[in-house]
Amino acid sequence: MKQQLLSRKATCNSHGQDSSYFLGWQEYEKNPYNEVSNPAGIIQMGLAENQLSFDILESWLAANPDAATFKNGDQSVFRELALFQDYHGMPAFKNAIAKFMSKIRGNKVSFDPTKIVLTAGATSANETLMFCLAEAGDAFLLPTPYYPGFDRDLKWRTGVEIVPIHCSSSNGFQITETALEDAYKRAQKRHLRVKGVLITNPSNPLGTTTSRPELELLLRFVSAKNIHLISDEIYSGTVFHPSDFVSVVEVLNASQHPEKIRDQVHVVYSLSKDLGLPGFRVGAVYSENELVISAATKMSSFGLVSSQTQYLLANMLGDEKFTAEYVVENRRRLRSRHDRLVSGLEAAGIRCLRSNAGLFCWVDMRHLLSSKTVAGEIELWKKILFEVGLNISAGSSCHCTEPGWFRVCFANMSEDTLDLAVQRLKSFLESNYSESNLRRSSGSSRKLRLTKWVLRLSSSAGHETDR
Ligand SMILES: Cc1ncc(COP(=O)(O)O)c(C=O)c1O
Repeated sequence: MKQQLLSRKATCNSHGQDSSYFLGWQEYEKNPYNEVSNPAGIIQMGLAENQLSFDILESWLAANPDAATFKNGDQSVFRELALFQDYHGMPAFKNAIAKFMSKIRGNKVSFDPTKIVLTAGATSANETLMFCLAEAGDAFLLPTPYYPGFDRDLKWRTGVEIVPIHCSSSNGFQITETALEDAYKRAQKRHLRVKGVLITNPSNPLGTTTSRPELELLLRFVSAKNIHLISDEIYSGTVFHPSDFVSVVEVLNASQHPEKIRDQVHVVYSLSKDLGLPGFRVGAVYSENELVISAATKMSSFGLVSSQTQYLLANMLGDEKFTAEYVVENRRRLRSRHDRLVSGLEAAGIRCLRSNAGLFCWVDMRHLLSSKTVAGEIELWKKILFEVGLNISAGSSCHCTEPGWFRVCFANMSEDTLDLAVQRLKSFLESNYSESNLRRSSGSSRKLRLTKWVLRLSSSAGHETDR
């Protein structure tokens, strides 16, 4: 179809699909690693999926078959679920998700289910908040590095602009007052009206939690500028030590800020990471602002959570013994996986930013760049993708201003695959970085040599086990 017959939205490229983040996924799809059928394929380390605790969910399903088979005791609930549902969501599910959110926060805060709006994932929750809080052409400030999907989720359909708050490795990428003020001024220079700040806590891609002083600073800042604060807490259940995580709601409850600031703080949540269910599309907006809740509820017509999914998860999350055990065990597995990747990379001479949460590490490969530029970073990213066979995410796709950082995911594969990935990288560095002409050697002959080498490694990797 000719482009001019379509809308500007459909044909503009602010979706961000051309970012290396998505290009890496496309390359992976063409040549995915499989231990048996494609041992030299690309290992997907650019996908923040949590597959480590599926067995726990599956055991629950096996023990509770009614929840997935439209039954309530002897009664079928099929018709009830199949018929029209309004956009308020099922009370039983909203109660259950509210309790689950509290549990993850050590029951230090509670969530009123009537202030929750259900959405099709955090993607929809973030976009819905943009539609509620800003006009096209207004701006939100986001600390860098940030989740590459935000260019699509926050900007594409809403017309909202993102202005980066530049954070640096010199203080572990923490948010400072200077960085906040600098971003605000840059937005003003561009004649953009700033409507708020959006953070992810814990951070994607850093895997670090936002500290209490940072949250205090953010609340002071949004209060002084009379703007909103959105805290995307989609990774709150991945924090390795529960005491490390402080929700903005907790700080808000304890703070001396004027009451009206409560109307300007909004939380985004989803079950995509903590329960590992991105396919179920379950997200939520939590806000104490009645107007936001009312508008977001109406907008949620465009992205409801199916009643079948709500019914299943109301039962699962309503089983408090199960959720208590799940949360503890899931954290333990994530921490152990994280430690395995960090120590493996360290043995290869690569360091990670110290982190305490998430499904990924923020990896420092600045010393491996041919030039300290985005071009140098992309050159290394391509080598790792095509020659080593790992799809990791380049820091530039997360708008990091320091070339040479990469996000490496660890929870979407088996332990053996993770070990193989680290082994591939280690061997690549050992056998190539000592060669003085490495950066000048021609692509095709090297590719052949490396493909053989990747195959050799794969066949010696041993048998995959689930964990
Ligand atoms: C910070 C952050 N927000 C939102 C999302 C989107 O999540 P969902 O699958 O719930 O739409 C992601 C997914 O990776 C994310 O990392």
